[in-house]
Amino acid sequence: MGYGADAAKRAGGSGRIDLRSDTVSHPTPEMRRAMASAEVGDDVFEDDPTVIELEERAADLLGKEAGLFVASGTMGNLVSVMAHVPRGGEIITPAEGHIPNDEAANYAVVAGAGLRAVHELPTGEMPIDAVVDAIQDASDPHSAITSLVVVENCHAHTFSRPITPTYMKELRAALKPSGIPIHVDGARLFNAVVALNVSARDLVKDAESATFCLSKGLAAPIGSVVVGKKDFIFKARRARKLLGGGMRQVGILAAAGLVALSDGPEGTIKRLAEDHVNARVLAEALTSMKGVISPGHNAQPEGDRLDPNRVVTNFVIFKIEGGIKRRQKFLDELEKRGVLMVAYTHGQIRAVTHYGVDEADIQHVIKASSEALAASA
Ligand SMILES: Cc1ncc(COP(=O)(O)O)c(C=O)c1O
Repeated sequence: MGYGADAAKRAGGSGRIDLRSDTVSHPTPEMRRAMASAEVGDDVFEDDPTVIELEERAADLLGKEAGLFVASGTMGNLVSVMAHVPRGGEIITPAEGHIPNDEAANYAVVAGAGLRAVHELPTGEMPIDAVVDAIQDASDPHSAITSLVVVENCHAHTFSRPITPTYMKELRAALKPSGIPIHVDGARLFNAVVALNVSARDLVKDAESATFCLSKGLAAPIGSVVVGKKDFIFKARRARKLLGGGMRQVGILAAAGLVALSDGPEGTIKRLAEDHVNARVLAEALTSMKGVISPGHNAQPEGDRLDPNRVVTNFVIFKIEGGIKRRQKFLDELEKRGVLMVAYTHGQIRAVTHYGVDEADIQHVIKASSEALAASA
């Protein structure tokens, strides 16, 4: 099958083309080397030089005062909520966002926060008027106190669309009278940076804090970084400790993140553009296949042809005619052909391109999809 030898090696030799998520990507050889030789200290004493370097590098890239290395994107969001929001405060998030749907209600269980969900547009943006409308009246004793607005960039459920600096600026201006801070859940922030051809700094300059994942498209094995002002990071560090997330010789992991964020050829930011091209090629092929339809959710009307123009980063989201029963058959038939995609919310299917999946793999995925559609009809 058309599975490049190099890609097979990078994917751990499983021989499968795994498009379930970019989280399945394996570390690059340079990351493995950097991890093996990383200088370490005890990060709870704040003396691990590699962690310090990573946190400073991340803060500099995103134009913030300080950074904090955390275990995951979920932990990054949670410590940010804990640092920004008092118990009983309320956060505003996109309705289809990761925080309200995929973080085990940690904002409520751990942070003691309430949540108000605002429905997104097909761009992944929450309408600004609706955000302002969702702010509670702090002088009314019935109301929770709105304490944070979260923007997800890229917005995963709407084709992982990038949110623009213009939107961020408008949102900031609209929130100015209330002084409510903005947190960016930037699990895939660098996909947005590459797709929009803007700097990470510009993308988050109107937000008080941001978190991004090293372990998704950037291909590092573990970790996320939270950035913001020094006093915010101090509170986030305390929250991380409370959660048991203080780690010791963790420079071994931070070393991979430093490779990811490096400017040279070993860095993995610029190469995200390849994933975006691969996703687009896949979407263009899928759109002409009989049985493939638009996801219908936060996109075009359901039943239309999948619009490949929706794909500007590394997510392809679609549906197939015949409902969820046929979907499972299709996914099973794909797997028999060495391709993994994943059942997604609202009856959709998701395919995510990433490091380790090359052009030849995409051609194999296209052939396998066409065969799996026929076999599942
Ligand atoms: C938008 C978004 N935010 C946060 C996360 C959480 O990241 P992690 O899996 O590292 O906890 C994800 C994970 O897929 C995500 O897609």
